[in-house]
Amino acid sequence: MRKMYFTDTTLRDAHQSLLATRMRTSEMVPVLEDMDSIGYHAFEMWGGATFDSCMRYLDEDPWERIKIIKKHVKNTKLQMLLRGQNILGYSNYPDDVLELFVKKAIDNGIDIIRVFDALNDPRNLQKSIEFAKHYGAHVQGAISYTTSPVHTVEKYMEFAKSLVNMGVDSICIKDMAGLLTAPMAYKMVKKLKKDFSLPVEVHSHFTTGLADTAYYAAIEAGADILDTATSALAYGTSQPAIEPFVAMLKDMDDVETGMDVEKFIPVNKHFIKVRANHKDTDVSLTGIDTRVLLSQVPGGMLSNLVNQLKSQNALDRFDDVMKEMTVVRKELGYPPLVTPTSQVVGVQAVLNVLSGERYKLITNETKKYVKGMYGRAPAPMDKEVMKMVLGSEKPIDVRPADLLEPALEKLKKEIGVLAQNDEDLLSYALFPQVAKKFLEEKYVARVKVDFDIADENVKEFPDVSIYPA
Ligand code: CO
Repeated sequence: MRKMYFTDTTLRDAHQSLLATRMRTSEMVPVLEDMDSIGYHAFEMWGGATFDSCMRYLDEDPWERIKIIKKHVKNTKLQMLLRGQNILGYSNYPDDVLELFVKKAIDNGIDIIRVFDALNDPRNLQKSIEFAKHYGAHVQGAISYTTSPVHTVEKYMEFAKSLVNMGVDSICIKDMAGLLTAPMAYKMVKKLKKDFSLPVEVHSHFTTGLADTAYYAAIEAGADILDTATSALAYGTSQPAIEPFVAMLKDMDDVETGMDVEKFIPVNKHFIKVRANHKDTDVSLTGIDTRVLLSQVPGGMLSNLVNQLKSQNALDRFDDVMKEMTVVRKELGYPPLVTPTSQVVGVQAVLNVLSGERYKLITNETKKYVKGMYGRAPAPMDKEVMKMVLGSEKPIDVRPADLLEPALEKLKKEIGVLAQNDEDLLSYALFPQVAKKFLEEKYVARVKVDFDIADENVKEFPDVSIYPA
């Protein structure tokens, strides 16, 4: 009997996809022990957009979240999503920042690090894989899945080979837009299992309605792990729900889950309540969105785009922008549309349409992308567009992060006493403005509270000049 494993994404991808990443740690804690008793392989609970969101919207320390969850979860592995050399930000960071980040994530309790690069450029993953292995995590290499004339099974296998050569412990097919069909899932899983003797995991989104059948095909082809969410936070732009899979697998003769459908009931009840707390950011997509099948645009990006056009009073140009996005993506060498390339393509397409002249306005990000600062595009870029964007500048041909100087010492000086430990320093390294504000509130507010309590007894006021105004 073969065992089918499941990674639960409720604490990360599910609410990132459905609720704009607004779930609080306090909304997770009450149900963690129930979840831990189900028999999941792992909880994906950190990384992606959660880090930024904790500080920006929730006034929470993202590092505390790992520690708190770890305290309640004894049986299930904790997994994070790392954007390779982009860490959890939107462009490449120097190696010294990446190394400390990976070390601290593992120190605080992360067991599995899933790394991906938007462009599937192995050079952008090399160091994260090396560091994650060095500090003792299970490192999973992800293939960013998309469809285009240059994205063939052979191309994906070539990339998978480079992941294996770099020493990954398992491989994930990461389908962020829900484009993976059942036949493709079958072919890819079968080939991965045949070529490499490593566990294979499939991660998809229900956005287009393809994911359930793709997962079933993946099971048939020998996949080891599937990514699902609790049904209250499944479907739409999130992952497929776990419960139907557990029920279905009971009827398969050679596969078992070791899970009991009963056990999901209290967990699901809890997340129904949690979801109701976030009506204001809920994408409220309960069915499927087939537009994605044509545009390859991930769900999250669609809602961003609508908001962007709304704010410009240009919602009537939505169809033009969608068309333009396909053209821009082709001209830029068919990047998979995932953070950060989704933003590069999306914003440039909006500018091309709204300014009335293509590439008349060019974002910094487009320039960096065309220059090669995000890595190598899957296909050659359009020569004319390159000229319009770069002028006389030449694209780079080295690993982008090789051009970055070590940054930790400089950052340490910049942030000063507001970084009380490496974790604070890393928060600042990744999101300088957001983290500075967050750390000021964290430490200055705490000092104020201490003063209030101590006020009656302390005659001489301590020196507060070290705290920024
Ligand atoms: Co995802």
